[in-house]
Amino acid sequence: MMSEVLPYHDLPDGKRKQVEQMFNNIAHRYDFLNHFLSMGIDKRWRKKVISELKKKQPANILDVATGTGDLAFASAKQLNAEVTGVDIAANMLSIAEEKKKKSLQAGKIKFLQADALSLPFTDGSFDACTIAFGVRNFENIEAGLKEINRVLKKNGVIAVLEFSTPPQFPVKQFYLFYFRYVLPAIGRFFSRDKRAYQYLPESVYAFPSPENFCGILHSCGFTKTWHRYLTFGIASLYTAHKN
Ligand SMILES: C[S@@+](CC[C@H](N)C(=O)[O-])C[C@H]1O[C@@H](n2cnc3c(N)ncnc32)[C@H](O)[C@@H]1O
Repeated sequence: MMSEVLPYHDLPDGKRKQVEQMFNNIAHRYDFLNHFLSMGIDKRWRKKVISELKKKQPANILDVATGTGDLAFASAKQLNAEVTGVDIAANMLSIAEEKKKKSLQAGKIKFLQADALSLPFTDGSFDACTIAFGVRNFENIEAGLKEINRVLKKNGVIAVLEFSTPPQFPVKQFYLFYFRYVLPAIGRFFSRDKRAYQYLPESVYAFPSPENFCGILHSCGFTKTWHRYLTFGIASLYTAHKN
């Protein structure tokens, strides 16, 4: 388990509160740093999530840990679906709302503040659920996945995008160097949050291996788990279906 990986070691709050505070702190720089630090690859990764969902043609999608809403906007446009984006961090959602004002998809998207571990929806509400770079931050991964399972319809699909550690030399060595030294320095400079971009690699190392994460999905009521490495294993895409 990875519950002990916290954004701010010196604060007494639990992980959920600290994660909320961290994303509220960095929200104003989040989109810029996301695209800059990933050299734009993050957009390609979100497209992969959408192509997996295309096969299922979901009419309504829950985007958990929606942040500033990039995946929600892309899904609404490319899948022509109704999308509900939820997040715990109010400042991330404010930026999502600002972007919504300029979006042609505005009529198909709703954002609301909610915790993945306690979703304000009735059982079986959604055809699909997406989570991009969110599940790693949950205080309790299993509790979040079970809650998502609850709000999915039978045979509904979950698609999870998360960072992973590339398995092969020399990408692995380059990535570890970049993640450990370069990314925290750039992140700290632009976000003005000392810990946020140190917490990022720490939480990625602590995240279960693809094999173990597929096992966790299974134990939380999902079947047909599938995993694929993206960009030499820097990120991983998982899909699974509600039993
Ligand atoms: C790295 S950002 C990802 C945002 C977006 N999905 C993207 O791809 O850019 C992680 C987001 O997860 C949210 N988050 C973390 N724990 C959460 C929880 N328990 N419930 C809802 N949102 C959560 C954070 O507030 C943050 O906005």
